[in-house]
Amino acid sequence: TLTAADIAKRAAAREAVKLVESGMRLGLGTGSTAAWFVELLGERIREEGLKVTGTPTSERTARLAARLGVPLVTLDEAGWLDLTVDGADEFDAALTLIKGGGGALLQEKIVAVASDRMVVIADETKQVETLGAFPLPVEIVPFGWETTKAIVEEMLEDMDVDGRSSTLRMAKDAPYVTDCGHYILDLHLRRIGDPEDLSGALNAIPGVVENGLFIEIADMAVVGHEDDTATTIE
Ligand code: A5P
Repeated sequence: TLTAADIAKRAAAREAVKLVESGMRLGLGTGSTAAWFVELLGERIREEGLKVTGTPTSERTARLAARLGVPLVTLDEAGWLDLTVDGADEFDAALTLIKGGGGALLQEKIVAVASDRMVVIADETKQVETLGAFPLPVEIVPFGWETTKAIVEEMLEDMDVDGRSSTLRMAKDAPYVTDCGHYILDLHLRRIGDPEDLSGALNAIPGVVENGLFIEIADMAVVGHEDDTATTIE
């Protein structure tokens, strides 16, 4: 049985899958909402003979898509993508996103930026007035990670945020390792006053690979509701 959140996520994915046309090179996101999209895409491929390729943003999504019969190509094989559909942990009215709760932010951002169009699918609980209640994921290099963490926290002193602590993401007893072999720092900021400023400052730190703020990347949001309907924000 589906929870209310599942129904809302599926409603968003169902609306987004209507945007897919034969011949498209698609970017496939990661997470429980993106999984609904892959599921419904697989259905259209089987039922309508839709011809598309999918470029997955994680090993998890690659396995799911393969199982559902979505033909997969790497980003370099695709060269460029027509449409990427992915979830988000938070989004605001300007369609600035926090992503990376599922740990795939780096590949998600590379894929989203290499797409003509990026559509976010999310249940309505992900929409916020101001970003930052969800901890901001930052992908860092394992080498010297404790030093990088200290530099990130020091940099936060000069930022328009309400919280300044960070934690290394763990998987049981060991650090969580991303598909690209990096670690993730979760920043507990509570409120992000200036996403652009923060994103720039984070990415200027040598040990930081990328951060989970997606700024001016998403072109549209499809918001799913618990009554099984969806609305769009452009
Ligand atoms: C994965 O790294 C994330 O960016 C996901 O897109 C995000 O965590 C949303 O996941 P859910 O759809 O499961 O909430």
